[in-house]
Amino acid sequence: MQSPPQPLQLRADPTVREIVATGHEPWLPSPSPGVDRRMLDRVGDEVARATTIVRYRPGSRFDAHTHDLGEEFLVLEGTFSDEHGDYPAGSYVRNPPGSSHAPFTTDGCTIFVKLRQFELSDVERIRIDTRQASFRPGQVPGLSVLPLHEHKGVHSALVRWAPGTHFVEHRHWGGEEIYVLEGTFSDEYGDYESGTWIRSPHLSQHTPYSEPGCLIYVKVGHLAVQPIESHALNAP
Ligand SMILES: [Fe+2]
Ligand SMILES: [Fe+2]
Repeated sequence: MQSPPQPLQLRADPTVREIVATGHEPWLPSPSPGVDRRMLDRVGDEVARATTIVRYRPGSRFDAHTHDLGEEFLVLEGTFSDEHGDYPAGSYVRNPPGSSHAPFTTDGCTIFVKLRQFELSDVERIRIDTRQASFRPGQVPGLSVLPLHEHKGVHSALVRWAPGTHFVEHRHWGGEEIYVLEGTFSDEYGDYESGTWIRSPHLSQHTPYSEPGCLIYVKVGHLAVQPIESHALNAP
């Protein structure tokens, strides 16, 4: 008797450090015409807990869907739209568990999206235009921070590094996930240009810096030691 097919597992072990230069990853078709994606981590097929870069061609749309365990995204390029509004590049959006929408784009867009990674108690609906928002001074000169969200020790923020900024050595309790939006981010393990996704496990440590300057999305505290679980969903 055949065992049932296993769901897709991609970089599904949060105890493993992962680095993906996303610009070199293939675009894979989604079930919706004109909607393609680069998968960063994933457990599940069309029903997945996943971190993905999704590209909507001009005039494309994705089926209406409900976010059983939430959806967090950052618009990288173009303008993402749904029946609730238009979200230009730089928009940070959180659609909490139970929310739903039917996405589309007029002129095309690319988003960085994390699906099914909310606590059920995390019900805040957030829309931030990060290109208009005020950053505040960070922990060292040259660093500025735009907090995006916090819930139960999990923090998301944008962090801007002025050229030549060096941060202190630190350890990541609950791990750290970074997407480099602009410039080049570095630590003692390498240089990460714009478009690089870095996932560093619980208790990893490093001493980061940026010589040319950079803007990064950072999420910390969410990479617990247990493996990512599979859940059902229908979304890119
Ligand atoms: Fe770090
Ligand atoms: Fe969605």
